[in-house]
Amino acid sequence: MSSTLFLLFLLLSLDIAASGTPLRPGFYSKTCPDAEFIVRDVIKKAMVRETRSAASVMRLQFHDCLVNGCDGSILLDDTPYMLGEKLSLSNINSLRSFEVIDEVKDALEDACPGVVSCADIVIMVARDSVVLSGGPNWEVKLGRRDSLTASQKDSDDIMPSPRANATSLINLFSRFNLSVKDLVALSGSHSIGKGRCFSIVHRLYNQSGTGRPDPAIEPEFRKKLDKLCPLGGDGNVTGNLDATPKKFDNQYFKDLVNGRGFLNSDQTLFTHPKTREYVRMFSRNQREFFEAFVEGMIKLGDLQSGRPGEIRKNCRVINGRPLGRLIDDLKDTGAVNYY
Ligand code: HEM
Ligand SMILES: *[C@@H]1O[C@H](CO)[C@@H](O)[C@H](O)[C@H]1NC(C)=O
Ligand SMILES: *[C@@H]1O[C@H](CO)[C@@H](O)[C@H](O)[C@H]1NC(C)=O
Ligand SMILES: *[C@@H]1O[C@H](CO)[C@@H](O)[C@H](O)[C@H]1NC(C)=O
Ligand SMILES: *[C@@H]1O[C@H](CO)[C@@H](O)[C@H](O)[C@H]1NC(C)=O
Repeated sequence: MSSTLFLLFLLLSLDIAASGTPLRPGFYSKTCPDAEFIVRDVIKKAMVRETRSAASVMRLQFHDCLVNGCDGSILLDDTPYMLGEKLSLSNINSLRSFEVIDEVKDALEDACPGVVSCADIVIMVARDSVVLSGGPNWEVKLGRRDSLTASQKDSDDIMPSPRANATSLINLFSRFNLSVKDLVALSGSHSIGKGRCFSIVHRLYNQSGTGRPDPAIEPEFRKKLDKLCPLGGDGNVTGNLDATPKKFDNQYFKDLVNGRGFLNSDQTLFTHPKTREYVRMFSRNQREFFEAFVEGMIKLGDLQSGRPGEIRKNCRVINGRPLGRLIDDLKDTGAVNYY
């Protein structure tokens, strides 16, 4: 049988439906009424173990939704026949707390097997992380299905670099119908969490190949960063993304106004005329920030691929394991070569 026929067989034998049905609040109110309580409870417990896990799982929404829509593709492990997104340029040695997502999924499978998608889990945990860190609450739309594949290349092509300037970020976000205001508000997610020295050494020692630091960094703050991230030091050492990394607040924007942004992609928002006024506004008015942030998260969550999907049993692998194993076996015999 050809691999096309195998694929056809796989598609017919599983519950795969076109995604793209309208998302709505309360999607699981009949099929898994406690879903949202269960998710929040797991996140609460994870944060007791490690506060940062809130930031780490919240970030997954951005990295999932930008690459072929919010379809849980970010959660798929690589297989011998698929290079997924976990090891892409932006994600390798950086995305973390996937085990918290596994815990959420296990708890949901115990309560209502085969019902809640991993893609929806990503959306719920992002909201819960913000709420439990002191940020705004909002109603999430649900009903997404999980992708059957993931793409390292698409992630490499799409995800922005920490070195990005405001112009390129504005252009990138506009491709997803996200406005300049959405860009600035969503960047406010860096109100919680940490980044690596690897992501900032260029701006400390060789901004844009000048051999000089980024002039937008406030000198005292730069001294601090130089000490944290010496030239040639360990790129995996981490620093706080704002001065209050456990609290979801507008401190991030106050820091940008004072030249104390961590990433180039943060500080650039205060150097560009199109984004600067939003930074100033959010630095003065936390309520405005929260409102714009919620709007941005909902728009980000609305991105869908329109491709067929399923409800994965394990967020790390697609359900059709017999086929996966078959392909692995064939590969072991040298009969087929993927990549
Ligand atoms: C505007 C473009 C963005 C860029 C260039 C960017 C880049 C980055 C980088 C480089 C890091 C640190 C990674 C590391 O050093 O290992 C980071 C961390 C983080 N990002 Fe973004 N990001 C952007 C937008 C967003 C958005 C829209 C969200 C969420 C909605 C988000 C959420 C986070 C969070 C929460 C962390 C901290 C994660 C942790 O502590 O584990 N980012 N981002
Ligand atoms: C911004 O970044 C883009 C892409 O790297 C680059 O082509 C452009 O010249 C940069 N713009 C400015 C003003 O530095
Ligand atoms: C952006 O909006 C346009 C016009 O409403 C629509 O055709 C397009 O599909 C949207 N793009 C994305 C990525 O949602
Ligand atoms: C800075 O970057 C430029 C361009 O990438 C490179 O040619 C130069 O050697 C670097 N300088 C230092 C001191 O690393
Ligand atoms: C960070 O740690 C990982 C895993 O231990 C290692 O492979 C990688 O090279 C390190 N990255 C940097 C920038 O030092």
